[in-house]
Amino acid sequence: MTVRRSVVVGCGGYLPEKVLTNDELAQRLDTSDEWIRDRSGITQRYIAAEGEMTSDLGTAAARDALSAAGFTAADIGLIVVATSTPDETFPATATVVQAKLGADKAMAFDVQAVCSGFVYALATADNFIKSGQVDSALVIGAETFSRILDWQDRGTCVLFGDGAGALVLKAESGAGTTADRGVLSTHLHSDGRLHDLLYVDGGPSSTGEVGFLRMEGKEVFRHAVVKMAEVTVEALEANDLSASDIDWFVPHQANKRIIDGTAKKLGISGDKVVVTIESHANTSAASIPLALWVATQDQRIKRDDLVLIEALGGGMTWGSGLVRW
Ligand code: ACO
Repeated sequence: MTVRRSVVVGCGGYLPEKVLTNDELAQRLDTSDEWIRDRSGITQRYIAAEGEMTSDLGTAAARDALSAAGFTAADIGLIVVATSTPDETFPATATVVQAKLGADKAMAFDVQAVCSGFVYALATADNFIKSGQVDSALVIGAETFSRILDWQDRGTCVLFGDGAGALVLKAESGAGTTADRGVLSTHLHSDGRLHDLLYVDGGPSSTGEVGFLRMEGKEVFRHAVVKMAEVTVEALEANDLSASDIDWFVPHQANKRIIDGTAKKLGISGDKVVVTIESHANTSAASIPLALWVATQDQRIKRDDLVLIEALGGGMTWGSGLVRW
């Protein structure tokens, strides 16, 4: 019996030109490089230029991923963009990316699960491929979080940045063992009762304005370590694998302390953890594909490696995925 899987055939990324360091932030806000680094592990973030939109970042990352895959835009059957910072309320940023790429044969839509967005988008695309509805997909995480930050709120604005990352997935048939390439499984969860811990205080149907990100940092932290550890164990158990089988752990980059806490809970050693928070900060749905991009560029993640991803975000939403690269 052959099993249809979504195999990663290309990975791309894009970061805006402008770098904003902690020291620069400290010049206009009551904060310090030391506080930000100690509490979060962040030293700088990238900020989109005026007029540079989420679709521009996503398109650049998608082009990079297509080129890595040796694909043209015309080869793509599905585009899913994970974002909480769309160019416009509608249409979906994915359709804007589609037009910019010239991916005329694709269907395109957005997925909104905040920092878990990329895991949700990967799960969605994987299911479209597994069901046979499409043979290829672009899964993009793209964000301009700088546009929804209250730059007077030192408790939140120091933590986030802008960027985009993308994967090209292609349907391949194999024996379906955990040694075969492709997405082995994804695991998604939500709990809408936790809305108040992390949300944006605006929107078309409430205030009519875009609003700003609001967060109960300590509570988010508490949920993050527990839930992300649980959902990674769920992924390992579903595939009859253990933490020692993991080649690379690529968590959502929210806070270095959350990443270290989760890796410790799982018994994954630090040298197997991909960390980009120091230079990217938290780019929400873009953080995992950007980290995958960095680790494929520097040759850490290689073909056939077992990669574990996980994230938690506003909603709350959380999820994990195991990929044989
Ligand atoms: N600079 C200096 N001082 C600050 C700053 C800042 N940028 N921000 C807050 N403070 C102050 C607070 O006012 C407080 O002062 P007080 O004691 O006089 O009241 C003090 O520092 C401690 O504040 P806490 O909020 O208790 O600091 P904490 O140790 O919890 O760290 C942080 C805050 C970094 C936000 C942490 O709670 C955290 O990382 N939480 C997880 C949130 C997260 O990662 N969210 C991302 C989105 S969700 C996700 O992606 C998983």
